[in-house]
Amino acid sequence: MTIIDGKATAAAIRLELKEKVDGLKAVGKDVPGLVTILVGDNAASEVYVKSKIKACSEIGFNSKAEKLSGDISEEKLLALVKKYNDDKTFHGILVQLPLPKHIDEDKVIEAISPAKDVDGFHPISIGNLVIGKDTFVSCTPAGIHELFKRYNIETKGKHVVVVGRSNIVGKPIANIMLQKKDFANSIVTICHSAAKDLSYYTKQADILIAAMGRAEFIKGDMVKDGVVVIDVGINRVEDSSKPRGYSLVGDVAYHEVAPKSSFITPVPGGVGPMTIAMLLQNTYKAFLKINEMN
Ligand code: GUN
Repeated sequence: MTIIDGKATAAAIRLELKEKVDGLKAVGKDVPGLVTILVGDNAASEVYVKSKIKACSEIGFNSKAEKLSGDISEEKLLALVKKYNDDKTFHGILVQLPLPKHIDEDKVIEAISPAKDVDGFHPISIGNLVIGKDTFVSCTPAGIHELFKRYNIETKGKHVVVVGRSNIVGKPIANIMLQKKDFANSIVTICHSAAKDLSYYTKQADILIAAMGRAEFIKGDMVKDGVVVIDVGINRVEDSSKPRGYSLVGDVAYHEVAPKSSFITPVPGGVGPMTIAMLLQNTYKAFLKINEMN
């Protein structure tokens, strides 16, 4: 059994990007830039945005964190997004979700120029993914695909079972794995909470991608021997032995499932760290495209 080290893989990707940025700087070129837009004071969103900005500065990207009051009008937010669509310093625009209830998230996502859609949430990006065109792919699924590549995991003709149908993870990873491309070309099943017997599906998985957001839901008797397990869940469970009172667990009961697996991602340290690495990679890609350097 191999434990997939997402933390080390993400660090390697960040270093590769830093070297590219150093190369741009050495010849006096412009560098990639990311602007994040945070609305209101959701504590978790603040933490996420902070780590995205920190990751940018560590590799030499330009970055800017816009923080707006929770009662800002939709109109003003849309105007700000449009301003950054036209700003040549920033190649990626990330509006942190969720947004306050009075703002239509879809409208805001659709206002982002598809050329700067480094989150891959714009319907044009998603449409391009579905029809197999080069596009921005949302960061967590892109990170999973990158792990298959870097660990040289055979996916062609394998049965990938995705548990969870979110727009951010389940649907895009299913579409990536369906493509007739390297480290994809799989047979894909998407299952979800309406399944009468989830284990009927999960037991058939050569590669199981658990992304339903339910703590340790996938048990040892729900998978077959030799399965590749990608655990996207990050759930807090009470743990009085920890000073903070909780520990983080995935959607997979790791200690039961790991002994049956050929490869498995731990939580934390598996898929999670890959998300920001892919955001940086998408921003670099946006920079190359906008500057016609690719
Ligand atoms: N909220 C939770 N995850 C994400 C993400 O990947 N991007 C954005 N923009 N908001 C999020």
